[in-house]
Amino acid sequence: MGTLIANGTVISPTGRIAQDVLVDGERIVALYIPGTGPRDGHRVIDATGKYVIPGGIDVHTHLDLPLGGTVVSDNFETGTIAAAWGGVTTVVDMADQHTGESVHDGLAEWHEKAAGKCAVDYSFTQMISTLDDESLKAMDYLTEHEGITSFKFFMAYPGACYSDDGQILRAMQQASHNGGLIMMHAENGIAIDVLVAQALARGETDPKYHSFTRPPELEGEATHRAIVLSKVAGNVPLYIVHMSAAEALDEVAEARHNGQNVFGETCPQYLHLTLEGTLDRPGFEGAKFVCSPPLRSKHDHRNHRADLWKGLRMNELAVVATDHCPFCFKDQKELGRGNFAKIPNGLGGIEHRLELIYQGVVAGELSLERWVETCCTTPARLFGLFPKKGIIAPGSDADIVIWDPNRKTEIGVGKKHHSNMDYSVYEGTIIDGRIDTVMSRGTVLVENDQYFGRPGHGKFLKRGLCNYLA
Ligand code: URP
Ligand code: ZN
Ligand code: ZN
Repeated sequence: MGTLIANGTVISPTGRIAQDVLVDGERIVALYIPGTGPRDGHRVIDATGKYVIPGGIDVHTHLDLPLGGTVVSDNFETGTIAAAWGGVTTVVDMADQHTGESVHDGLAEWHEKAAGKCAVDYSFTQMISTLDDESLKAMDYLTEHEGITSFKFFMAYPGACYSDDGQILRAMQQASHNGGLIMMHAENGIAIDVLVAQALARGETDPKYHSFTRPPELEGEATHRAIVLSKVAGNVPLYIVHMSAAEALDEVAEARHNGQNVFGETCPQYLHLTLEGTLDRPGFEGAKFVCSPPLRSKHDHRNHRADLWKGLRMNELAVVATDHCPFCFKDQKELGRGNFAKIPNGLGGIEHRLELIYQGVVAGELSLERWVETCCTTPARLFGLFPKKGIIAPGSDADIVIWDPNRKTEIGVGKKHHSNMDYSVYEGTIIDGRIDTVMSRGTVLVENDQYFGRPGHGKFLKRGLCNYLA
């Protein structure tokens, strides 16, 4: 028996079409004119008045990651359950290479952490913190044999996972041969460390100083430098992660205008939150909002949030991911009491990306098509998962979300919140829509506000090369 999703409106990057969708086993097998899909012998889900979209793909998450003197609060089980609740059917998590460790050992550890635990399908980006000859060889091996085709580098965090310009150039040159996608955390970490030390010496220890010591210009500068290095390496595809600043967006837009293979990612936190009302909360409460790059001030000389929404609309930004890196306030964010530089960096949000970007549709910031493109289809294309994932089409995996635009969602602890965190940065946010059903490879994970998934349903995905350029 298959499942017929009847009378819904299927959304893709190229339009919205009323269609019946037939699922058989793990795949979508046919699309029909509404009302003509076969009912007999199938379960029928009535999607009248609802949107039928591909399962979300979050290409930037951190699960079970040791960071900032603690370990993020979601492991692969809790994190992927929260993902499922949020209509995310694929996550690409960052496998860590601890400093000095071999890349292969880092990857093996991530396979061990995830195996048998995931509620949704998953893959890894390999983070490289020690770029030496062995790591360069490992990049080739992972791309060719392991289905790991993206590599993350940090221009921030000197003394930890930082890579210098020479190392980054070498990695980019390697990627220009093996086809890997270079993901870049673009902030000038050397300059930031000077500003942090100066602020602390002045007694500026509150969470808000985290933002003041990571100015947008230093995100713009690092983004520019990464773009130049990728050009020198032969116009190798470069993906700038978690962009927060208008200055960085200018650089990506200009590079794209000049024909460079540069892609920008932003995150819901930069589209919805500002420093005001978050990092500047009284006492130590602002610690809940510490992430890097930081939330930007609305009194800045640039309107970062407005520019990021525009960038998303105009395809200057290609993808929305979450950079899900959750910590509890108690015992975790609290590690930085009295010194903002010791607050573990990162926010949780794996569950709320489709919801928060949909709210941008409601607000007129972008179209339904662009919602699907930036959260589902382009991530699949850039990360070598298309057309298996990211589109409602015959032959594709039946990763499907049924979205009801006539219901509401209230985000918050005790409301809609499934991540293993004792707070939500989106507490109290109301979304003018609600996820009805989430299906992963034909299996219903969420329906009628109930969870039916299980650990181990999610499979590891070997990915192909970035196919956005083809
Ligand atoms: O603050 C952040 N973004 N934490 C996660 C690690 C990273 O830089 O992506
Ligand atoms: Zn980062
Ligand atoms: Zn990250």
